[in-house]
Amino acid sequence: MHFFDYKDNSLFCENVALKKLAEQFSTPLYVYSKKTLMRHLNVLQEAFSEISPLLCFSMKANSSLAMCNILVKNGAGLDIVSGGELYKALKIGTDPQKIVYAGVGKTEEEIEFALTKSILLFNVESISELKLINKVAGKVGIKQKVSIRINPDVDINTHDYITTGKKITKFGVDFDTCRNIINSRAEYSNLNIAGFHIHIGSQITESYPFVESITKTVNFIEELKKDKFEIEYLNIGGGLGIVYKDENPQSAEQFAEAIIDLIRPLNIKIIMEPGRFIAGNSGILLTTVLYLKNTSVKNFVVIDAGMNDLLRPSLYNAYHEILPIKKNDNVGNVKVDIVGPICESGDFLAKDRTIQKVNAGDIMAIMGAGAYGFSMASNYNSRCLPAEVMVDNDTYFLVRKRQNYSDLIANENIPKELI
Ligand code: LLP
Repeated sequence: MHFFDYKDNSLFCENVALKKLAEQFSTPLYVYSKKTLMRHLNVLQEAFSEISPLLCFSMKANSSLAMCNILVKNGAGLDIVSGGELYKALKIGTDPQKIVYAGVGKTEEEIEFALTKSILLFNVESISELKLINKVAGKVGIKQKVSIRINPDVDINTHDYITTGKKITKFGVDFDTCRNIINSRAEYSNLNIAGFHIHIGSQITESYPFVESITKTVNFIEELKKDKFEIEYLNIGGGLGIVYKDENPQSAEQFAEAIIDLIRPLNIKIIMEPGRFIAGNSGILLTTVLYLKNTSVKNFVVIDAGMNDLLRPSLYNAYHEILPIKKNDNVGNVKVDIVGPICESGDFLAKDRTIQKVNAGDIMAIMGAGAYGFSMASNYNSRCLPAEVMVDNDTYFLVRKRQNYSDLIANENIPKELI
């Protein structure tokens, strides 16, 4: 469900015509709908109201300050994975006690930064990391709460690159290792092992893998209880899938129904870390058609957005719906490859896609680009990062300026001696 719709054949974001935004800010341009964003946050908050979890938006999905600020001001916390995300989270005034920090490669510097800012929990991914956090906590004189990230070894039906709860992946520790950590917790005198964390992957459209991983973890928690070890938090991660094409993902209510019964008896605080569910369909990428290029085997539509702006199709073969911002039922359809300007054959936004016939200069909207869109964009081929606009009903705001050429070289240095 989102608020990008046609009115009189013209595509709107809420009450703003996308044509107007493309004209004013040029393309490629990310456009976000505040109403869609808020709807997704509210739907989750309501579905889970019975257990009032701490909803930490996963910043890696979209760390736009304006977007995170809206979510945080409306009650969300943040799930971070780097010092950079922590810096951004603090910049918008996020309560550190609503920040949880995951990731397999936290550096000592990042750990110290987070410790001194009093974040709620580190989601710890290995024994080596646990030791380092304990050491640094001792150095800065802090007793820190941590969660152990458990890898429950469950299979999910998603792209291999975004499966994280199988033993073969680098994430978390298995149940046996977790038990060993608990048994030797006296060694970590500066830490309080206050919770467990599970995140099994992303774009999961069915409830059963969540049910399986949560059930395994709940059983584990119950076993530990018998040994007089109790936790305060269970973080059930993110991963809720959304509609890109013809998926039929579980709704927030169905998801809540499937898992609340499992976790209610624990009577502990629940944390969730959705990213895509909140941001994914809240954003689109506007792009202009540059050229039509027909060969004997393919019709190419060359657009001004590429894998540098939206990497998902190239990296995961991901499907994003691509719509004309001016619908015209009379022009007919064509089957095309929609490709970007980057000098790689892997630079495509859609393959063998049937779309309304387009001409150079036409503007199209690449849908479902609000999560893992801008946050995965790069300067590859020395192309400037796109601008971002947030729409709020009939008003809109430029929330990130387009990069310019001098931004591209701002951190570079040409030593005179080096010729
Ligand atoms: N928590 C942790 C520990 C995570 O690693 C992730 C995502 C999330 C929460 C949020 O997951 P979500 O609710 O958004 O599914 N770039 C890929 C997705 C990578 C997800 C990485 N981790 C994509 O474009 O599909």
